[in-house]
Amino acid sequence: MNFKDLMRQHLKDLKPYVPGKPIEELRREKNIAGEIIKLASNENPKEPFKEIRETIIEEISLLNRYPNSGCHYLCEDLAKHIGVDPDQIFVGNGSNEILDILVRGFVRLDEEVVYPFPSFIAYPLIIELAGVGDVKVPLDNYRLDLKSMKEKITPATKMIFICNPNNPTGTYVSADEVNEFLQGLPDTIIVVFDEAYYEFVTADDYPDTIELLKSRDNLIILRTFSKAYSLAGLRVGYSISHPDLVKCLHMIRQPFNVNRMAQAAAKTALKLSGKLKGRLRENSEQMEFVSNELKTLGFTVPPSQTNFLLAIPPLEFETGIVEKLMERGVIVRGMNPFGLGEESFRISIGTPSENGRFLKELKEIIS
Ligand SMILES: Cc1ncc(COP(=O)(O)O)c(C=O)c1O
Repeated sequence: MNFKDLMRQHLKDLKPYVPGKPIEELRREKNIAGEIIKLASNENPKEPFKEIRETIIEEISLLNRYPNSGCHYLCEDLAKHIGVDPDQIFVGNGSNEILDILVRGFVRLDEEVVYPFPSFIAYPLIIELAGVGDVKVPLDNYRLDLKSMKEKITPATKMIFICNPNNPTGTYVSADEVNEFLQGLPDTIIVVFDEAYYEFVTADDYPDTIELLKSRDNLIILRTFSKAYSLAGLRVGYSISHPDLVKCLHMIRQPFNVNRMAQAAAKTALKLSGKLKGRLRENSEQMEFVSNELKTLGFTVPPSQTNFLLAIPPLEFETGIVEKLMERGVIVRGMNPFGLGEESFRISIGTPSENGRFLKELKEIIS
């Protein structure tokens, strides 16, 4: 039976999301016995804090019960943490789920989503899945080009994604640029600020989108526990927006979309801001170190405000760097699917020893 023929027409050619290669898969494929390090998915290299692990263990005995369906208590804690009202918060099975709910819920079949490219690889997938219009706007010098994005707005535009900082380039757009972008924008367009890497940002002129929300109803800000908080495996992200928008999101979401352990762990994570700061500092220091090393080797490395770097090799370099790193047990993310060329790759910042190992293998490959 050709099940593809039975599929909805607009989904037949959809290419599934390809995640960074899991360690076990690489070990099996390449028969690698030694240590494999994964620096491919912008995960935190550190395990979740002890307090979070203990919370999860406590929660296990309650798993016979469904979780709180609207994440009521987590919303209360998040609201306090951020300084907004609890009815402005919505929690999703990762911020990815919220992106999907937004597009499916708001963008009609004859309407469009404007978004940057290359950017988060899930955007085009979510848009295609919903069968709505797709307007990709190329980056300018590895940065979001907000001027061009604004020029692409038509009466059909319903939603705009602003990935800030941008994955996979790590670059950010400033408060001034965002203010200019929002100037005169119709309030029927929903502007989604995807701030998955918010906690890593150190730039003084990064926009305060929570402040912007006080004077504009058509904004929604997405953040996540997946990256800085080391909880990618639990799937918990959240949004901050106007309460009426939150009500619509609740209408569309699946019941019990965020599991019990994720809700409990996220609540504990919010109490550990002090400890988190130490990890964020280490990330910044390591990122500067890896970035400088890559530049010394001749790579172009856009300045990053995240926990990853984009590395673009000079033309004269050895080909197949990504594959060769894999063969040596170092998993990075090749940038072909992002349209950044076969030889470019994105590398997540690991522990100091993982970063050292990556650089050692890379130097051997290109020497
Ligand atoms: C820019 C961006 N947005 C959203 C996400 C999704 O994060 P989550 O794990 O919360 O679904 C990612 C994950 O890589 C990302 O890079």
